[in-house]
Amino acid sequence: MIRIVIFASGSGSNAENICDYFSKSKDVEVSYVLTNNKKAKVLERANRLKIKSLVFDRTEFNDEAKLLSFLEKEADFIVLAGFLWRVPDHITRAFPNKIINIHPALLPKYGGKGMFGMNVHKAVVANKEKETGITIHYVNENYDEGTIIFQAKTALELSDTPDDVAAKIHELEQNNFPKVIENILLNNE
Ligand code: GAR
Repeated sequence: MIRIVIFASGSGSNAENICDYFSKSKDVEVSYVLTNNKKAKVLERANRLKIKSLVFDRTEFNDEAKLLSFLEKEADFIVLAGFLWRVPDHITRAFPNKIINIHPALLPKYGGKGMFGMNVHKAVVANKEKETGITIHYVNENYDEGTIIFQAKTALELSDTPDDVAAKIHELEQNNFPKVIENILLNNE
């Protein structure tokens, strides 16, 4: 069984979708949902889905003896799904090409520090973009700069609000993220 550990900081709609997708898989399971936010809705979702969860603080996150040794025991693959902290270098080094992130825009556009969630969608609308999309990429030491694995686009109307953009992105994420993970894990794509 390939064990995925998901990191999420907020609502966790992607985390839930990934858990659902692999719940009947013979090859892949979500072993843990980890969060830096004890109030995150993702914890309720994990609870409901009977997936183990863990909350950590900044000190624990950066402590090699704590989180890294936990991950070395529990994770074959790490998925960042709406996780807002930069992953420390000792973790990216220990999991080369085994940590992926989803970003709600077409990187390299609208990436970098501070570019998450609605901030991205507001910037996309302010710039009158005709399209946006999602990017799934490997995680390295720099925000949003690892090798791109997958992108999908959606067309925008001039009348689209940031909430409209968020809804279009949500749909792309729900339709694609688990399948992309499955392709990486089972087909080495
Ligand atoms: C998702 O849209 C994800 O792409 C984005 O946060 C949202 C989390 O939603 N991630 C980033 O902005 C990372 N820079 P969720 O908690 O409902 O899965």
